[in-house]
Amino acid sequence: MSQGSPSPQMPHGMHATAAQGGQLAPSDAIPSGRPFVPPATLKNEATQPGSFKATLVATSAKVELIPGVATQAWVYNGQLPGPMIELQAGDQVEITLENHLPEPTSIHWHGLPVPPDQDGNPSAAVAPGESRAYHFRIPEDVEGLYWYHPHPHGQSSEQVYRGLAGAIRVHAKHDALPPIPERVLTLTDLRLTADGTIPEDDMMDWMNGREGQFVLVNGLNRPGLRFDTAGYERWHVLNATNARYLQLALPGHTFTLLGTDGGRIEQAQSGLPEVLLAPAQRVELLIDATGRPGSTFMAKAYARGKMGGAGEAPTVPLMQVDFSAVHNQQPVSLPQTLRPFQSLPQASAQKRVVMSEGMSMGHGMAAGHAMGGMMAAGTMGMMHEGGMPGGRPSMMQFMLNGKTFDMRRTDLTSSAGAWEDWEIANDSDMDHPFHIHGTQFAVLERTINGHTAQEPFRAWYDTVNLKPQETVRIRVMQSSKGIRMFHCHILEHEDLGMMGRLEVT
Ligand code: C2O
Ligand code: CU
Ligand code: CU
Repeated sequence: MSQGSPSPQMPHGMHATAAQGGQLAPSDAIPSGRPFVPPATLKNEATQPGSFKATLVATSAKVELIPGVATQAWVYNGQLPGPMIELQAGDQVEITLENHLPEPTSIHWHGLPVPPDQDGNPSAAVAPGESRAYHFRIPEDVEGLYWYHPHPHGQSSEQVYRGLAGAIRVHAKHDALPPIPERVLTLTDLRLTADGTIPEDDMMDWMNGREGQFVLVNGLNRPGLRFDTAGYERWHVLNATNARYLQLALPGHTFTLLGTDGGRIEQAQSGLPEVLLAPAQRVELLIDATGRPGSTFMAKAYARGKMGGAGEAPTVPLMQVDFSAVHNQQPVSLPQTLRPFQSLPQASAQKRVVMSEGMSMGHGMAAGHAMGGMMAAGTMGMMHEGGMPGGRPSMMQFMLNGKTFDMRRTDLTSSAGAWEDWEIANDSDMDHPFHIHGTQFAVLERTINGHTAQEPFRAWYDTVNLKPQETVRIRVMQSSKGIRMFHCHILEHEDLGMMGRLEVT
């Protein structure tokens, strides 16, 4: 289906009017303070060891978030967020998607090196009423936290904000760390009206990416987490929001960073007062509760240069943390090296990707760039085309290398197995998180305001944030032939075309 054509099954074409948007529910409408729960898990139906087999049914269902009020959400297997998939390194995986939604969908296995034809590309969406099985094997050396979410053309943002996303925990064969209790925190964004409706994106959401009034932790509003006597926990945190930047903090405490998108980093980074988790990113944090009072785990306000005079998201409390049961005073001893990193092979090719914003002058022609926050409200009204679904701006463009996404176009080509240096440049006045499918990359250095800084530690990422006018250099290799996507992971920007196709030959 082409971007912007109203889907026959959905009452699209309506603007985000008062009726559709309604009064927002107050931020305590969803009860807070309930005990923390781990994510529900997807049951493995395989009988032989080393195999994982299950079905994910994507459907519209009523859930109760505000007590006594039904919310029509889109869910996997009735769960909001979707059930966590727990895998072991080396597992052979077969997961069947049944699409009971009124529109096409697919499942993308974000961050995992699955074959391109199993990775939920927009060109391989599953039609309503259809199903398909995804097959892939988790390599022996993969561990960490990943996630799954829909990736159909033009509809990913809507499907994720309605509830379709879940965590994937890949356990290592052997863990170099001493045993420390682990928690998975899936952070999702939710906007609800007082009558329990999840409203469509409005114009500002399309421009800046959607942020609701709730950030849920495993589906709960501000749960309470009580540490046991040991005093140490490892938190695997996933930013599964459409567009929200999570400047994580636990006032009175510092974090020790153990892992990033691609699993463990080389050496633990301790004493971090804040950790920025851009949309789609994950971290593994060590929380040391010994000899300290409890606190509030929160996402502090982060200015990301929103357009059109939109306000930045305020500080959001995520979870109340209670350390009163902790008795242990023993420091945890971490190994010097969490994970060995070989030096990276030399790059045999160079690429450059420029992220920009602009105005379309008619049919696919772009003019001007770096619109920034300079747009007046009146100008934005002009960009609003009457029949576009959910207030999608028709003239505002979000581009990679001056183009918006075209499913028939190959934007870049790489050779399988070849290491490449990519220079990603953000030629706009807003932060954009850049993501590549099917692999993990190393960040080499970042340049901003004429100053270049080497990365302070060695780590693997599949998503890297770019501040306005920042340039980031990465070293990356694709091991399988086929089509890979690369895009901005503000999902509204992805849907508006800030995405390209890489052909690996
Ligand atoms: Cu998490 Cu192309 O996506
Ligand atoms: Cu991805
Ligand atoms: Cu973006």
